[in-house]
Amino acid sequence: SEPVYLLGIDTSCDDTGVGVVALTASGPEVRANVVWSQTVHAEYGGVMPELASREHVERIDQLLPQALAEASIELADLGAVAATSGPGLMGALLVGLMYGKGLAQALTVPFYAVHHLEGHVYAAATEENLAPPYLALVVSGGHTHLFDVPTQGEYHLVGATRDDAVGEAFDKVARLAGLGYPGGPAISAAAERGDPLAIPFKPPLQGQAGFEFSFSGLKTAALLAHQRGASAEDLAASFQRAAVRALVGTSVRAAEAYGRETLVVSGGVAANRELRAAFAQTGLRVAFPAGGLNTDNGAMIALAGAAALQARQTSSDLGVSAAAYVP
Ligand code: KG4
Ligand code: ZN
Repeated sequence: SEPVYLLGIDTSCDDTGVGVVALTASGPEVRANVVWSQTVHAEYGGVMPELASREHVERIDQLLPQALAEASIELADLGAVAATSGPGLMGALLVGLMYGKGLAQALTVPFYAVHHLEGHVYAAATEENLAPPYLALVVSGGHTHLFDVPTQGEYHLVGATRDDAVGEAFDKVARLAGLGYPGGPAISAAAERGDPLAIPFKPPLQGQAGFEFSFSGLKTAALLAHQRGASAEDLAASFQRAAVRALVGTSVRAAEAYGRETLVVSGGVAANRELRAAFAQTGLRVAFPAGGLNTDNGAMIALAGAAALQARQTSSDLGVSAAAYVP
């Protein structure tokens, strides 16, 4: 039988992502994934919401035909449209959400509003063909969230960061060590030339009974070590070791507490090699996204839409609105 083609759109922050997934008899396949990463924010040292919205408006019309061409399909071949409805920057979200809803209405196909973090989770789960139950760890510049996913579409928050997201900590430590931006890949590269035991950073919150994360104390400890003259390489290696141990340690304890043997890890920080290596040694079955699907993108939103379609979930009402904060 013919596959159902789903378009996925993500404009939650500073990346405009449009992707296409084909839902075939053997499951979902990513057929296109085009992302425009905004650079206008670099000079401000942080994302400027209004500029992000305007860039999404300017780019999305170009990305749609690119994604369709990459998937070798026509607009009329689309069988469903999915777009992120939250969480994210309100103005930015609205661009992709309205675009997706308009497209679905014009094509008279079902529309699926997708939670951004659910998109991240499906980016990893689909790679290994995993179905719930599993634990899901989303680690990015904006999130450090651990969920229990007992069945398709059901998410229970197990723990999150009390302060900085882990990717944010990578970015800040890279900046103070003069390693540039984005910080994650820079720390990872510098760490290969450093000694992970040079600075005895304690992995945060490892004695706790709960499943929370915290990275601001580690960031401050890194600043102090830098001021005392630690090399950028040793700082990178020691910081990375502590951050990875905190993520892996808490996830493993949570897996035991929740009786889960499978974990999906996604978000920008899931690209980290040390993190992947450390999880590989836990004895848990661990899934990571394929290349290009770690960071924000539209294909992961189409994958979440495909899962909803496969589970015969009812599509979203076209009155659905964007939400900056979604529990
Ligand atoms: O998922 P993402 O693209 O955007 C957000 O939703 O935040 O994640 C970006 C974050 C940045 O903080 C970046 O430094 C981090 O992911 N990152 C990494 C690596 N690659 C990207 N962190 C650690 N190691 C990496 N290799
Ligand atoms: Zn994200």
